[in-house]
Amino acid sequence: MSPITGSYTASVRIENIARYDGQEVIIQGWLQLKTGKGKLQFLRVRDGSGIIQAVVFKGNVSAEAFEAARRLPLESSLIVTGVARADQRAPGFPGGYELDVRDLEVVQESAEYPIGPKEHGVEFLMDNRHLWLRSTRQWAILRVRATIIKAIRDWLDDNGFTLVDTPILTPAAAEGTTTLFQTDYHGMPAFLAQTGQLYNEANIFAVGKTYCFGPTFRAEKSKTRRHLQEFWMVEPEIAFCTLEQLLEIEEQYVSYIVQTTLRKRAVELAALERDTSTLAKVVPPFPRISYDDAVTRINAAAAAGVTVPPNDEPLPALPWGEDFGAPHETFVASLFDKPVFVHHYPSQVKAFYMESEPGRPEVCRSCDLLAPEGYGEIVGGSERMSDPDLLLAAIDRHHLPREAYAWYVDLRRYGSVPHSGFGLGVERTVAWLCGIDHIRETVPFPRLLNRLYP
Ligand code: 4AD
Ligand code: MG
Repeated sequence: MSPITGSYTASVRIENIARYDGQEVIIQGWLQLKTGKGKLQFLRVRDGSGIIQAVVFKGNVSAEAFEAARRLPLESSLIVTGVARADQRAPGFPGGYELDVRDLEVVQESAEYPIGPKEHGVEFLMDNRHLWLRSTRQWAILRVRATIIKAIRDWLDDNGFTLVDTPILTPAAAEGTTTLFQTDYHGMPAFLAQTGQLYNEANIFAVGKTYCFGPTFRAEKSKTRRHLQEFWMVEPEIAFCTLEQLLEIEEQYVSYIVQTTLRKRAVELAALERDTSTLAKVVPPFPRISYDDAVTRINAAAAAGVTVPPNDEPLPALPWGEDFGAPHETFVASLFDKPVFVHHYPSQVKAFYMESEPGRPEVCRSCDLLAPEGYGEIVGGSERMSDPDLLLAAIDRHHLPREAYAWYVDLRRYGSVPHSGFGLGVERTVAWLCGIDHIRETVPFPRLLNRLYP
């Protein structure tokens, strides 16, 4: 293959600028900010990999180039040639270098850019999401997200899991019938997948350990800081695996994702001003607490008048058998300095497919992983029902149509084994690692209750 030549390959990415100390380089990017007066112009240039300050001194460039630098509107695209110069105080990301400009070519002079350095309302920014993505903060989040996704895949690929894709158009519900997006499948109802799990359970009998990773859809009727209508979820599923074994896999997995992101995205996390000291502690083992014990702790604290962030509201009491609300998750997580496993939830608040605890049919062999610092549930998992008759009874109890699940029950007839799996939500993980309080910023184009644009 012949090499690609020309200015594309000649240009340097800002993230690699330290390799070019003292050399003349070309950077292609956009003008993010400009200051200066008289014979000096400071252009903050971003190229997608980083941000650098380009210093234009009148005496070093042609008259045209200086004039261009002086009047260039924000977000104009440009190609800058300059000498990379180390300077500890130089602003930018990764920082530590600035560019002594020798030439400047304007690719397009931008129209007046609607997003300025002043504060904007969230709805305005969301309407301009296609432009907002260029800001330092959104750029950093996108970069962290990409690294989290790569870590998600790498660990599974390196630990014996086979990726098997699952369908997005499905004939039946898997995570409750109240959050289904219905669509028309040539005259038949079909639903956007809430999960790939049921198909994973077929796939483990072919490949042993599998995962699917794709967008999932939930018609959540509420506006919260934690819920999207469309979110990405990785779902590993493992044959010959009990709940206890599953938790050991989960803590290895989540620790790998966190530590890899800390290592590879230090610059972006610094741009987000994320305090990474709590993340550094995320190493196995994670604490485990049963739902029963968690409820006891919650109710004792509620009786004592404990309040919870972010609004310092009183922690509500929790009758046994009810699901956690956000304040309960925040409180339980605050008892530990690592993510915490809450296991054995009441069967009535969980999905139909979860295995019951032998001798205690009112609780199931399920486990949620709650992130620290109030980020809530990031992983939900369980051991699956492996007996065909018990599974049929569960399907009936949940008023689900037997016909739609015939194939799923069938899996329990040909070499059924104990098996378990979990789902990790990408956006909640991004929110946690980036330290951002609303899930809308964790995905490039969020789908929210009242928003489908842009
Ligand atoms: O707990 P959930 O609903 O579990 C399942 O879907 C199982 N089928 C997973 C499995 O065992 N294979 O969802 C798993 C995770 C949650 O912990 C959360 O991180 C994320 O998916 N999640 C959402 N993220 C954003 N918006 C929503 N509406 C979400 N619903 C779940
Ligand atoms: Mg859940």
